Amino acid sequence: MPLDTEPLPPRATLAPGPMGVLATFAAARRNVLSMVPEASLHRPVVSGSFPRRWHMLTDPAALRRVLRERVEDYPKSVVTKLVLQPGVGNGLFVAEGADWLWQRRAAAPAFAARNIAALAPVMSAAAGRAADRIAAVAGRRAFDAFAEMVTATFEVIADVTVSGAGFDRDATHRAIERYIDEVARVSLLDILGFPPWVPRPERAFAARTVRAMKAGADAAIAARLAAGPRPVPDLLDLMAAARDPQTGRRMSPAELRDNILTFIVAGHETTALTLAWALWLLATHPDAQDRARAEVRAVAGDGPVGAERAAAMPFLRAVIDEALRLYPPAGFLARTARAADELAGARVLAGDTVMLPVYALHRHRRLWDAPDAFKPERFLGPPPDRFAYLPFGDGPRICIGAAFAVQEALIILATILQRVRLAAVPGRAPRPVMILTLRPEGGVWLTAEPAS
Ligand code: HEM
Repeated sequence: MPLDTEPLPPRATLAPGPMGVLATFAAARRNVLSMVPEASLHRPVVSGSFPRRWHMLTDPAALRRVLRERVEDYPKSVVTKLVLQPGVGNGLFVAEGADWLWQRRAAAPAFAARNIAALAPVMSAAAGRAADRIAAVAGRRAFDAFAEMVTATFEVIADVTVSGAGFDRDATHRAIERYIDEVARVSLLDILGFPPWVPRPERAFAARTVRAMKAGADAAIAARLAAGPRPVPDLLDLMAAARDPQTGRRMSPAELRDNILTFIVAGHETTALTLAWALWLLATHPDAQDRARAEVRAVAGDGPVGAERAAAMPFLRAVIDEALRLYPPAGFLARTARAADELAGARVLAGDTVMLPVYALHRHRRLWDAPDAFKPERFLGPPPDRFAYLPFGDGPRICIGAAFAVQEALIILATILQRVRLAAVPGRAPRPVMILTLRPEGGVWLTAEPAS
């Protein structure tokens, strides 16, 4: 059956037209994507002034200006900081200017290709355990692929950040989940510019969650540092040893903690989401699944998938790229303009919120052919316009963990495909819902059979 006649993968319902106060408020708490106007799929920019001046950009040239050419004028939005600072302080994701630059330089060696390749065994081991769990229910009952992938990616990030004993994985994991739920929902009030006197009852709970999360990380870090560096350095070792090449400065314990939490928060759910959506797409597109499995077998047989083999699977990579296009985990980025400017013909004033609705950009009618369809082949040809495809952002603030995430996703997907054949549970298609990340509401329910 040609792909174009297949049912399209689930998509979010965008806002048909301008929304009033209550509708905006309700939409923001339910699904950020339902605030994105349908017009963002057709036009280069959509602007509004409620409750404050804002612009939603889906024009590649304007996105290049914001993310690469005029970075200084478009710092991370006030809202991004409100959401993340309570949890990850002034770590790499949130810091600006010189404070950001030195942390980025300190972290960069840890994310160099050689170090990422060295982390492959940790990824392969977590992949093997995930495949075992799925194979154990094969032919017997459905499983939630999102939950499985969260477990696998958390095992990886916990191991590569603060390896060895001392990290209470479950407690940290639960705290982070609660943090994302509580803090992100609360701060949507801020995203919309609601005044501070509007009650935010969740904030008290969030403060408790944040304290628990930080205390857990502090204890794990202190225990690990006391034990001395690991034979194979983990991210904590690399960050603790890093010096600012210009000033010789090292990270304080609080900076180390904020960055370790940053890696954990930024790195595990996003990768789990990529994997869960990719598994859903493969389960609902058996031809693509067969092709991906054949590629994995040709490269790795039934043996372990390490860094080198993972890099030799272009079709599987295209499946991941296409999953990231249709369901970008960071589907909505934001900046606050520092100076007056013009973006895609819209007049921007200092203080305006500039939103980057990556979800809409990736389905823009003028930028993509069959934008709502799953067509991994599109990533096998010439690459799309650099600024039409931004799953990891771009410019100096581009995701530092992109290569890490892609390698991990390749290894986990390949290992699962070696072992099982996947199908979707009828009638349980996940709904894309964005709060802080683009999640599959209802879970990703699949069944597995042993792969022949
Ligand atoms: C598929 C998985 C991932 C996705 C989709 C993703 C997406 C992104 C995006 C879009 C940004 C830029 C945000 C902005 O410009 O406002 C970003 C930044 C960042 N990501 Fe990722 N990320 C992923 C995995 C990871 C991993 C595995 C790590 C770490 C282990 C990580 C750590 C970071 C950090 C520290 C930043 C801030 C970098 C800076 O500002 O210099 N991410 N990520």
